[in-house]
Amino acid sequence: MDRFLLVISEVHDIAHLIEGLKENNIQFHVSCELNEINTILKKRRPNLVLIKDKLEKIDSEQIVSKIVNRDESPYVVVFSEKADASLAKKFLDLGVFDFWIAPIILDKILVFFKEERKDNFSKEHSPPNYIKIVGEHKKIRLALALAKKVAPSNATVLISGESGTGKELIAKYIHLNSNRAKGPYVAVNCAALPENLLESELFGYEKGAFTGAYKSKPGKFELASGGTILLDEISEMNLTLQAKLLRVIQEKEVDRLGGVQPIKVDVRIIATTNRNLKEYVEQGNFRQDLYFRLNVIPIHLPPLRERGDDVILLANYFLEKFSHEYNIQTPGFSEEAIEWMKTYDWPGNIRELENLIERAVLIAQDSYIEPRHLLMDSLEDDLLEDVRDKDFEENSQKQEHREIFKLDFDRIVPLEELEKHMIIKSLEKTRGNRTRAAELLGISVRTLRNKLNKLKEQGITL
Ligand SMILES: Nc1ncnc2c1ncn2[C@@H]1O[C@H](COP(=O)(O)OP(=O)(O)OP(=O)(O)O)[C@@H](O)[C@H]1O
Ligand SMILES: [Mg+2]
Repeated sequence: MDRFLLVISEVHDIAHLIEGLKENNIQFHVSCELNEINTILKKRRPNLVLIKDKLEKIDSEQIVSKIVNRDESPYVVVFSEKADASLAKKFLDLGVFDFWIAPIILDKILVFFKEERKDNFSKEHSPPNYIKIVGEHKKIRLALALAKKVAPSNATVLISGESGTGKELIAKYIHLNSNRAKGPYVAVNCAALPENLLESELFGYEKGAFTGAYKSKPGKFELASGGTILLDEISEMNLTLQAKLLRVIQEKEVDRLGGVQPIKVDVRIIATTNRNLKEYVEQGNFRQDLYFRLNVIPIHLPPLRERGDDVILLANYFLEKFSHEYNIQTPGFSEEAIEWMKTYDWPGNIRELENLIERAVLIAQDSYIEPRHLLMDSLEDDLLEDVRDKDFEENSQKQEHREIFKLDFDRIVPLEELEKHMIIKSLEKTRGNRTRAAELLGISVRTLRNKLNKLKEQGITL
């Protein structure tokens, strides 16, 4: 298996470790060039990333949050010359796994790779990761308190809630707060696979079990042994598979397809559903006995529209997250944007909010986020404005249009001419941005557009 360490620092910080790393077959790369680091991270997933707290050319905090927020993020450890508790806390809050004081000790790194080897580091394994769950509303506080309380037990948990309400987040939170946190965390989406594939995915198969089974493969239950398995969207599992799942829960063993001996597994099950599973049982689509087995601890996550001001807390959290990630200084939301977010009913819940804010930060850049930045339909208008901005700059290099409208204010001029003059001025002032120009003129963008069209008909293009 690949054992790869990425060090984001100067070579002299790890010079004393090089021999030892080589002896232990740990491949490593040391760099403090952002481009180089990004290229490496794109190509290869390190098992461990060591980052110095202060670097000349790179903002450590920024790269740390970028790495820990990746899917399947590696373990990240920050090291520093200083034993500074508040500095350590700052990085731990960002989600790093540990904070070390330099010089780095080889044994500390080795333990890491041993641990990774022991638990068969696979794609599904999520490293202990700090999970940030934002919310002050009573319903979410209660759900979290329950999750925390039941986390250390082995009880099966059924998390329900509309799409995007944070079910997977809570599942991971439970795993990380359990005494299985160091064990694997394996997520299976029951809706994503056709039933026969789902079966072999969950329970594994022996060589020759079916055409194409050239070698045996362990199922997700086996891979999750010692840890937690997340059965996402459990309602989508068909009735035959439900019966097999029930057996796994009762007997604590799985049968691989084509296998002769059952295999013991020690797995904590968390299931999620965005359907009302009880109704599904009543309709005969879900086994009642399985429902009771899964529903030992039910946790319901309310939709975002029922969480009151949490929408603003979450909006600010995502604003900060994405401004940091993209290095954009978005100052905040306008009052209208806040009002809009409070009244919108968020059918896609927190995922929708997260996506809208990511896009809004990118569009608004360093100005306040307005409702139009959040609304998908207005995106095109905004981009058109940008295109116009550019056209205007090109056009404004040709001075001749403006010359025609030079005005002498001691003279009475036809209102139409005055209007033309003001339109030109407003566009000059706003560098061709029609929305802002219309605001200055006290008219709607549509009216401005009509007026510009009229001017165009007269042969004047702005
Ligand atoms: N309280 C919260 N604080 C911070 N982030 C949150 C919170 N709840 C959800 N999120 C974020 O919102 C996104 C959606 O959450 P998640 O994937 O857990 O939802 P889900 O209920 O599993 O959705 P689906 O039913 O569509 O699978 C994720 O990026 C998650 O990190
Ligand atoms: Mg989910």
